[in-house]
Amino acid sequence: MTKMTVSTLQKMKQKKEKICVLTCYDASMARLLDQEGVDVILVGDSVGNVKMGHENTIPVTVDDMLHYTRAVKRGNTHALLVADMPFLSYETDPKEAVRNAGRLIKDGGAEAVKVEGGLEVAPSIKAMVQTNIPVMGHLGLTPQAVNKLGGYKVQGKTPAEADRIVTQAKILEGAGVFAIVLEAVPPSVAQAVTEKVSVPTIGIGAGPHCDGQVLVLDDMLGLSERTPPKFVKRYASLRDLATAAVRGYKEDVQRGRFPSKEHTYDV
Ligand code: KIV
Repeated sequence: MTKMTVSTLQKMKQKKEKICVLTCYDASMARLLDQEGVDVILVGDSVGNVKMGHENTIPVTVDDMLHYTRAVKRGNTHALLVADMPFLSYETDPKEAVRNAGRLIKDGGAEAVKVEGGLEVAPSIKAMVQTNIPVMGHLGLTPQAVNKLGGYKVQGKTPAEADRIVTQAKILEGAGVFAIVLEAVPPSVAQAVTEKVSVPTIGIGAGPHCDGQVLVLDDMLGLSERTPPKFVKRYASLRDLATAAVRGYKEDVQRGRFPSKEHTYDV
């Protein structure tokens, strides 16, 4: 298996090969994803709600992202490792963005970072790219803006909104991003962006026209407690399996069926 880099992704877009991306938060799952040839592993700040028990991604800190990125790094060899920059770690000051991204790269082992937003974050993106830190953009439904957006709503439904997303994508391309995540936008909007920018687009709830797709790992494995959004395809029901396993273990312990001879050391 060859090592995935930002330039491999660019070539995949040119050759119209679809890019496969999944989020990941620990070393053992990273090893599994890497063995299966997933192209990009994203340590998403979705770790806030998926693993840390927060209601949304807002409380996630750079230290939290460092912790999870280091764990994922230990399990990954081939996939391009991207770490999310959490809320308020990049938006207000390009120098601070470089410092925080630098920690995720230097101390966390990430190979690139992802930020949410368009024109307003372009100065930070430029500063990071000039410092040789590859940056992935994120447009459409940007979960760090949940309070401003008034919930997790589909974006780009009116022609004006759709045009705005295409314009923002061109701005991100100009600022130097190597790829753009498009979340919860109609397929026609994702198609327009995919055709108009030279960098790969990665869709989540954005239809089939993007250059690649990303899903939150726990959602697609059926591990999440939350009801997943409409765009999630469940490939397994691991929460049901885990529930049955814990129930079986508890019953065995309570009835003295575990441990049996096969699980016990002889003298
Ligand atoms: O945090 C995350 O998991 C993400 C993906 C949904 C793209 O940003």
